[in-house]
Amino acid sequence: MLKLGVLASGRGSNFQSIIDSIKTGYLPASVEVLITDNPDAYAIERAKNNNIPYLIMQPKEYSSRDEYYRKIAEELKSRSVELVILAGFMRVVKKPLIDAYPMRIMNIHPALLPSFPGLHGQAQAVQYGVKISGCTVHFVDEGVDTGPVIIQAAVPVYHDDTEETLSERILKQEHRIFPYAIKLFAEGRLEVQGRIVHIKDSDREDSLIINPPLE
Ligand code: GRF
Repeated sequence: MLKLGVLASGRGSNFQSIIDSIKTGYLPASVEVLITDNPDAYAIERAKNNNIPYLIMQPKEYSSRDEYYRKIAEELKSRSVELVILAGFMRVVKKPLIDAYPMRIMNIHPALLPSFPGLHGQAQAVQYGVKISGCTVHFVDEGVDTGPVIIQAAVPVYHDDTEETLSERILKQEHRIFPYAIKLFAEGRLEVQGRIVHIKDSDREDSLIINPPLE
């Protein structure tokens, strides 16, 4: 069983999809702790409802950002966490945590990286006018949404989409690919070489999205 530590700042729907995937037996893992930087995060309710221990850790309580992430790493290590999951953690993780968990931190981003990194990836896609966007699960390095890509899902973007409608379409796919990426890790099927993540024994499918569809 892979021991997970989840970091989340808000609603926690991705956290929930991970909890649900564990419950059904799809994901051979356990969530050892939720750490949040937001005392009002709904993710806390989800932890309580599922008997998952949680910690509220806010940067302002620490002398520096490095100290903050050092303490987070300590909490995770003390619970023998093997893989750290950023499930809507709205901060750029700093070196002490990255060094404690090299290629052992996963993030989900609501765009097809390297397009539209940073905040509001969905709004950026709508404003840019792309016809396809999606979501990306990647390992975390010191940059903003720059680490090696593990899996991506693409969705169409329509001319009348808003940030909200596109977010909803993307979120459905987030809830599918994040548990799957963690499952691949748990099964020892991810091998990182430089920027490239090799996925052992994965199927190939020449699937295609063209938007708008050809007539
Ligand atoms: C998601 O859109 C995710 O891609 C981004 O933050 C949002 C978190 O949503 N990193 P939730 O808290 O998991 O519902």
